[in-house]
Amino acid sequence: MTDTVLDIRDLNVRFDGEDGEIHAVKGVSLSVAKGETLAVVGESGSGKSQTMMAVMGLLAANGRVTGSALYRGMELIGQPIKTLNTVRGVKMTMIFQEPMTSLDPLYTIGDQIAEPIRYHRKVSRRKPGRAPWSCSISSVFPTPNAGSIPIRMKCRAASASA
Ligand SMILES: Nc1ncnc2c1ncn2[C@@H]1O[C@H](COP(=O)(O)OP(=O)(O)O)[C@@H](O)[C@H]1O
Ligand SMILES: [Mg+2]
Repeated sequence: MTDTVLDIRDLNVRFDGEDGEIHAVKGVSLSVAKGETLAVVGESGSGKSQTMMAVMGLLAANGRVTGSALYRGMELIGQPIKTLNTVRGVKMTMIFQEPMTSLDPLYTIGDQIAEPIRYHRKVSRRKPGRAPWSCSISSVFPTPNAGSIPIRMKCRAASASA
């Protein structure tokens, strides 16, 4: 029984660009054990975000990934969305770094926090009794839309929705 939670081997991400191929992530290998925290540091544009976008199957349409990413021994690379969704939002999630763009100003904060919970845990809006925390989230943030709150609160809301 291994304690490795995430094991990435020789991950490469390439994008089709107007002027040819962009090799954005070149042969990344890393692993994270249970209870371990790993920080990946590098200059802007060096491929940190695209590494994890590839692992979670969230690359843009012009992106391709090769290599391996095992979540507790389960291969994530190349899996269909249905399989990925047994992990994404349930076992593994992403906090997007820019709350100004990851939150939608047209929807309330409560709805944006509750939406992934409803989606991934199959909780119905009409049957809140099955998941009382999803309604309490909506009532903690009842009215403001995401465009009208301070940046500090946006960061908290973006983290909560992940
Ligand atoms: N859809 C795309 N098409 C072409 N290049 C992209 C696309 N998405 C990201 N890139 C490029 O991938 C590289 C790595 O980006 P990123 O992982 O976001 O860097 P960072 O280390 O700052 O998180 C950058 O050069 C970026 O421009
Ligand atoms: Mg980034």
